[in-house]
Amino acid sequence: MALLPILEYPDPRLKKVAAPVAAVTPEIRKLVADMAETMYAAPGVGLAATQVNVHKQVIVIDVSDERNDLQVFINPVLLEAEGQAENEEGCLSVPGYYDRVARAERIRVRALNARGETFELDTDGLLAVCVQHEMDHLRGKVFVEYLSPLKRSRLAARMRKKQKLAG
Ligand code: NI
Repeated sequence: MALLPILEYPDPRLKKVAAPVAAVTPEIRKLVADMAETMYAAPGVGLAATQVNVHKQVIVIDVSDERNDLQVFINPVLLEAEGQAENEEGCLSVPGYYDRVARAERIRVRALNARGETFELDTDGLLAVCVQHEMDHLRGKVFVEYLSPLKRSRLAARMRKKQKLAG
């Protein structure tokens, strides 16, 4: 396994749209393992392949307190979304920044797991927020794009300055 570098907003590669995975090959399973290791090391509760500059529809999530419940979503499709809830979100691609975002409260999603089997999941709470947040990454969208243009441009300037200082 390997730790993968995480792209940081406003890196234009975060805007790329991910392609569906044709088959869950050993290469995809290695990507899943590396993404999980990267997410746990960060530490974070979710990571989309887009964030590690792999533009394939692969997401890893673990919202458990014990950090032992890895969930893998390959080619996820949102089947149903209902209600609305606002929660504070953060993102490994926007380190140190948190803000409130409104999303569907309850969702039903269909995806493939790491064994290539189709499953459907009904969920709400943190997992529902996380699935929607990571699915946005696969479409090239970072959560800060829900913020006002003023907040967003201030944040982008702050991130660019930080990246410059970090070299
Ligand atoms: Ni994110």
